Amino acid sequence: MADGGRPPGQPRVVLGVSGGIAAYKAVEVCRRLVDAGVHVVPVLTRAATRFVGEATFSALASEPVQRSLWDEASPIPHTRLGQQADLVLVAPATADLIGRYAAGLASDLLTATLLATRAPVVLCPAMHTEMWEHPAVQENLRTLGRRGVRVVPPGEGRLAGGDSGAGRLADPATIAAVALEILGVRGEAAGVDLAGHLDLAGHLDLAGRRVVVSAGGTREPLDPVRYLGNRSSGKQGHALAEAAARRGADVTLVTASSLPLSTASPVRRVAVGSAAEMEEALAAVAPQADVVVMAAAVADFRPKAPSDRKLVKEDGVPEVVLEPTPDILAGLATRRPAGQVLVGFAAETHDVLARGWAKLERKGVDLLVVNDVTAPGAGFEHDTNQVVILERGGRVTEVPLRSKDAVADVVFDRVIARLSEGGEERKRP
Ligand code: C5P
Repeated sequence: MADGGRPPGQPRVVLGVSGGIAAYKAVEVCRRLVDAGVHVVPVLTRAATRFVGEATFSALASEPVQRSLWDEASPIPHTRLGQQADLVLVAPATADLIGRYAAGLASDLLTATLLATRAPVVLCPAMHTEMWEHPAVQENLRTLGRRGVRVVPPGEGRLAGGDSGAGRLADPATIAAVALEILGVRGEAAGVDLAGHLDLAGHLDLAGRRVVVSAGGTREPLDPVRYLGNRSSGKQGHALAEAAARRGADVTLVTASSLPLSTASPVRRVAVGSAAEMEEALAAVAPQADVVVMAAAVADFRPKAPSDRKLVKEDGVPEVVLEPTPDILAGLATRRPAGQVLVGFAAETHDVLARGWAKLERKGVDLLVVNDVTAPGAGFEHDTNQVVILERGGRVTEVPLRSKDAVADVVFDRVIARLSEGGEERKRP
């Protein structure tokens, strides 16, 4: 089909709709894009037509619905749609559609278009919570993320069949705003807060990056039932892991905390107890990472000879001899691969900045997030935090009291700035 008088320069979007109950919301996305001056070509899978009428899209979009590889007269339309698009937006993207795309299958017009396009691709997943959380779906999304595909993650809410949970299609206004931002079309995008999702070019700004985060306070065994621990809850570390995942990173969280992650979290979790276990787990994943954030409160001392039997009162008060633990962060700094950004944390009670700068040097990190744990509302067990981010090179970012999620986003804003500098001013060990 011809472009039907499409003005020159008018952006062209293929709006893919796959078969889920949320397909009706794609109508709203379509309307918003057309209203913003975008030429919208709707491509429905066969299953989508069971949920929403072709006539609705054909009436609202810039062209009639395209559905099949076989029902058009012009030659090889499956590649033409993809080649001509400025953006391919799929909303909703079902588990099945994501799986076929990740596997490189082209079994219908929509997947053929996805494979044939060089334009940016945005997927807006929607499915039941169990399917969204399935490792196969999450792995497929990570695979696609590494290939540059952007994802507008689903939210939590009512799902088909009266269920409720993670997997609900993102708000149509947000989806349209993401598309318009990528196309560089202002208007509808104005007023929708996309912070923490997209960089200036419209990418999920940590897509394709591997991020490792450590969290929680380590537990150093005294005997099989007791340990030396500390007051760290792991909340800030978990918030960092989730923030990186929201921004498109492939995240591994090595945690000594038992805090749960959010239900829909794609974060890979490795549970550890002691500093030695944390060191071993990090040694396995840190060398492949683009970013390592050591938010864990690693014990500085541990019992030198933990008893392999429970210490009992009848034997009297035990004499416990302590030894230092390895400094995991300093070890990671000496072995880190070129280009990796390394972030340390420091909980301080006095001389916060002076001690912070000295620690940044001593540990050989790029960023040190310094936390005055005596400040009201900051530090241990709170949901809020107040930090100062020190950077090699002298930059200081003060983050006033705010949620640990918001603090995490500021940390990653600075990490991304360092990643894009390519480590030029970074002193190699
Ligand atoms: O020296 P300090 O314990 O204040 O340093 C804190 C930073 O060093 C944190 O990033 C913490 O995760 C890390 N650390 C470590 N191994 C230790 C002690 C601290 O990696 N044994």
